Amino acid sequence: MTQVFPVSKQHLSDKVEHFTESVIREMTRQAMQYGAINLAQGFPDFPAPEEIKQAAQQAIAADVNQYAITWGAKNLRNAIARQMKEWQGIDVDPEREVVVCCGSTEAMIATLLAVCNKGDEVVVFEPFYENYGPDSILSGAKPRFVSLRPPQTPRGEWTFDEQELREAFQHHTKAIILNTPNNPTGKVFTRKELELMRDLCVEYNVLAITDEIYEHILYDGAQHISIASLDGMRDRTVTINGLSKTYSVTGWRVGWAIAPPAITNAVRKVHDFLTVGAPAPLQEAGAVALGLPPTYYKGLAEKYRTRRDHLIPALEKAGFHCYLPRGAYYVMTDISAFGFSNDIEFAGHLVRDIGIACVPGSSFYKHPKDGSQQVRFAFCKKPETLDEAARRLENLQRR
Ligand SMILES: Cc1ncc(COP(=O)(O)O)c(C=O)c1O
Repeated sequence: MTQVFPVSKQHLSDKVEHFTESVIREMTRQAMQYGAINLAQGFPDFPAPEEIKQAAQQAIAADVNQYAITWGAKNLRNAIARQMKEWQGIDVDPEREVVVCCGSTEAMIATLLAVCNKGDEVVVFEPFYENYGPDSILSGAKPRFVSLRPPQTPRGEWTFDEQELREAFQHHTKAIILNTPNNPTGKVFTRKELELMRDLCVEYNVLAITDEIYEHILYDGAQHISIASLDGMRDRTVTINGLSKTYSVTGWRVGWAIAPPAITNAVRKVHDFLTVGAPAPLQEAGAVALGLPPTYYKGLAEKYRTRRDHLIPALEKAGFHCYLPRGAYYVMTDISAFGFSNDIEFAGHLVRDIGIACVPGSSFYKHPKDGSQQVRFAFCKKPETLDEAARRLENLQRR
């Protein structure tokens, strides 16, 4: 009889102990278990653009099947540099300032591993995209959270306290992690807010690491500004982006980091040892994707606006208080009206008994109680999916 090896704490990394399982992916599993509509995880349930699917198929047929250059296929790096110039007016050297990674997820962790030392801190706005917590821990850095406060008026904006942000920069701070347009709040940071961050980065000699994965998904005339485009920030910013959201290909795992050469060099080394490279044929298709005409991006934002304006009234009718997003494809809601003691209990009821998966708000906060009366819905879904969700929401009762 084989002896069962008793794995104990001493066999595991201390780092992992601080991780909880991804709540978002757990909700996706529950959605499958209960046959619920998955408005939890942010992936589209509709097809990617035909021309980029064909480009991927052609690349495989043309035998682009071996490792690409570790820091990214030349065609894609050139396209990334071209797009950064076109959209943000920033000159990027594709040979020395771009690293293509396995999704922006890898670009973020590779960047943090490349710049952080034990004892460093990173400033993160809260509520935050759940990966930033574990990313910081893996890189040895400690996240210091700055609150984004919910709008006080029905169509108002999420705000933060300038003094709280300034204070957060004063603790062996290596970087601020910024995400605009923001997940989960839908906030699009304004030029004035970015200028304040720029001033603090310069004053305290801090880097900006900016996740701009939703850059093309904007509503109500909101404008996306890359912090790298502000005076003084070009050489202290790592700009992270990817194909996942803009081209509806979250499973392709292609993203990138743009940074000044010295940082790029460091990120390239980490990336090489982490993953060697992103999928070669999909990088070629990515180069085609980044060449889509401006009408594509306009159409994308308009389609998402229609979906936002489809889901929110249904949520409001059911009793949610919604915070109107200006970008990205999520809506944060307040669930106080339903009388549940916390978000986990509410999300469990919604997925099991109503047939809709959402993300409990506590997963976006360091202290679960801060998000215990919030849940987030994703609206990157077909109109039929949202129609069905609206129908199911009619069954939701207050307690
Ligand atoms: C803010 C943010 N960054 C990154 C990602 C993941 O991007 P990728 O698929 O490029 O790894 C997501 C996905 O939900 C996200 O919301």
